[in-house]
Amino acid sequence: MRKRIVLILAAGKGTRMKSPYPKVLHSLLGKPMISRLIDSLMTINPSKIFVVVGYEAEKVKEVIKKYNIETIYQEPQLGTAHAVMIAREKLLLEGEADLLIVSGDVPLIPMDEINLFLNNFSNSNNIAALISITLEEPYGYGRVLKDFEGKMKRVVEEKDATPAQKTAKEVNTGVYFMRIPEVFPYLEKIDTKNEQGEYYLPDLFSLIYNENKRLDCFRGSLAARYLGINSQFELAKAEEWLRVSVIGRLLSEGVIIKMPDTVWIEPEVEIESGAIVHPFTKICGKSKIETEAEIMSFSTIIDSNIGKGTIIREYTHLEKTIIGKNCRIGPYCRTREGTVTENDVRLGNFVETKKARIASGVKANHLSYLGDVTIGSNTNVGAGTITCNYDGEKKLPTIIEDNVFIGSDTQLVAPVKVCAGSYIAAGTTVTREVPPDSLAISRTPQKNIEGWATKRRNKKREGN
Ligand code: UD1
Ligand code: MG
Repeated sequence: MRKRIVLILAAGKGTRMKSPYPKVLHSLLGKPMISRLIDSLMTINPSKIFVVVGYEAEKVKEVIKKYNIETIYQEPQLGTAHAVMIAREKLLLEGEADLLIVSGDVPLIPMDEINLFLNNFSNSNNIAALISITLEEPYGYGRVLKDFEGKMKRVVEEKDATPAQKTAKEVNTGVYFMRIPEVFPYLEKIDTKNEQGEYYLPDLFSLIYNENKRLDCFRGSLAARYLGINSQFELAKAEEWLRVSVIGRLLSEGVIIKMPDTVWIEPEVEIESGAIVHPFTKICGKSKIETEAEIMSFSTIIDSNIGKGTIIREYTHLEKTIIGKNCRIGPYCRTREGTVTENDVRLGNFVETKKARIASGVKANHLSYLGDVTIGSNTNVGAGTITCNYDGEKKLPTIIEDNVFIGSDTQLVAPVKVCAGSYIAAGTTVTREVPPDSLAISRTPQKNIEGWATKRRNKKREGN
């Protein structure tokens, strides 16, 4: 088999997006569209992937640097054929190869189907091929024109097409197969004699057609997956397509999703059958939800694991968090990076946690900040408890051992330790270690001045 290499065209600004971001960095259900595209291209194991970058190249490179990909710089951007010619030297170094060219703005392409077409192309004698689809509304796409035998003879762009040509509903998807090095002499002949004054890659096909007809056109069967993204409207449409397909897969696997039209679940999320997802929830990144867990409305879960039987109640926000089994979290709770709980934990309203290791049976039901803290099993954290973990320069740890009772409105000034079985009286500021099984209390003794209020009122009345 010939070597397989991939070239992604991603240098364009995406003027029609009317946004300050390079087009291919727009997020598609939680990931930049170019990252989604690269992830799926990886599945066919190409020996190399090249990306042509140009507009905001540094930003695009930054996003894709985690992949083992070579970037090629195109400046100025004179058209899709120009982009391929810029890559020419690098591509020729690969020797004989089948080259798959895709556009960075067509991110949902079905790799199974493309792989079949690629095999087909490799076994043929053709120099180039493209994938076409049929669209009821072909506006904006290059139209595929056929000869009387049904063979593709050229592609005409929207802006160059005559009214009659515009009625063609078969369009170019921007996915191409090319034989290297044979294709280059044809690419060199492409000129800029068109409405936009650009080097159009699809012009390749009329050149090959006129010379020897060694070209092919594969009919893609899944039109929605080849839709190009050129405007915010098209981005929203592609994102909605992907969202619906993720929800559809989860429903078919037995996840219970209420009002699925209102739920946002990103493709990398794993949810076990029997978990329940309520309306208006957002589950993002690499989150994992175990069976019988329940995610209530208006909650957001990012890169977090939720254990079996746990209920995440309304308006809760979890990020980089691991929650054990049978916990009750929220409503209105916020857990931040490094929060890890064991089982049967309760975190209630307006409780914020960060880098918090919370053992089983712990309850912190109201109004707390628990940061850089370890909390032992069955400890009760009273309302208004704050770990004072920051001294203005660095973050400092708090350790609270098992079976501690922390009264309301306690401040724990880190670094500090509360040993097992102790009680902290309400309103205490803890600045020193509390030994096991003791009571820590720091309060100004209460003074009652009898009759004070009466006197005050009388004074006020006299004044009037
Ligand atoms: C292109 C095709 C059209 C096809 C459609 C499918 C051309 C001339 N037209 O149109 O036939 O139906 O895709 O989606 O190719 N790019 C560069 N350098 C450049 C110009 C573009 O890297 O100089 C990149 C863009 O970043 C983009 C891709 O090439 O990712 C396609 O360019 P775009 O301007 O979106 O072409 P379309 O008008 O969509
Ligand atoms: Mg496009």
